[in-house]
Amino acid sequence: MSDWLNKIKEAAGFIRASYDQPVEVAVILGSGLGNFIKEINVEKEIGYNEIPHFPVSTVQGHSGRLVFGNIDGKKVLAMAGRFHYYEGYSAAEVAFPIRVMKLLGVQTLLISNAAGGVNTSFKVGDIIIINDHISFATINPLIGKNEASFGTRFPDMSEPYAKEIISKAKKIAIRLGYDVKEGVYFGVTGPTFETRAEYKMIHQLGGDIVGMSTVQEVIVAVHAGMKVFGMSIVTDVGIRDDDNVITHQDVLAAAAAAEPKFSAIFKELVKAV
Ligand code: HPA
Repeated sequence: MSDWLNKIKEAAGFIRASYDQPVEVAVILGSGLGNFIKEINVEKEIGYNEIPHFPVSTVQGHSGRLVFGNIDGKKVLAMAGRFHYYEGYSAAEVAFPIRVMKLLGVQTLLISNAAGGVNTSFKVGDIIIINDHISFATINPLIGKNEASFGTRFPDMSEPYAKEIISKAKKIAIRLGYDVKEGVYFGVTGPTFETRAEYKMIHQLGGDIVGMSTVQEVIVAVHAGMKVFGMSIVTDVGIRDDDNVITHQDVLAAAAAAEPKFSAIFKELVKAV
């Protein structure tokens, strides 16, 4: 057995020993979206630093713990704080928690993030359902020996974001009276925000939003046979005439402002999937 598989099993074993209830739905909370935890009746919290081999998050706005609990009785696991390639983790390390989730029995993964808008009709605060992604500007986390117990060497990526969940999310948004849009998420490594020329290039290549997370998590989840849903909050507009700069503080503030709508949709979605 490979060394990393042992590590994943040890991490999952440690978590199971502290919380032994089945959990089928997991949520990853992106920058500024940690308040979703308030929707959960918390049963158990485990800090990343307690879990053997788990990476530890270093970014402001990511608090670094697994939260187990339920929403109106539906069990859910929330990852409060995620790992980014730009922090210096390998792509496989970024996706380590997804594989641990798989061993814990998670079948559906709901992912959130803060993203830059490159579709020129998108505004700060818009909620975008991710309907596809472009991953080749990041490192593919499946590079290396394939672990067949998780999935196949050459996974199909024709529907990384489950259409069935997208349709549920749209219905929920309509019911709640929120305007949501759809788009293609273009994954980059960061940590630099894009130059003006890069935002334009990303748009020309088919991206509607751009961000530094998500795609590696999605690839590993799809490889492992999980159903995935992703939703972004537009925190800044890349293609623009203004001479403003983009800062992490602005990103966090815009995400926090949109967070109540985001949390309301995710709360209903956890119950519906
Ligand atoms: N680019 C990349 N990642 C981001 C952005 C952006 O403009 N905004 C939030 N995350």
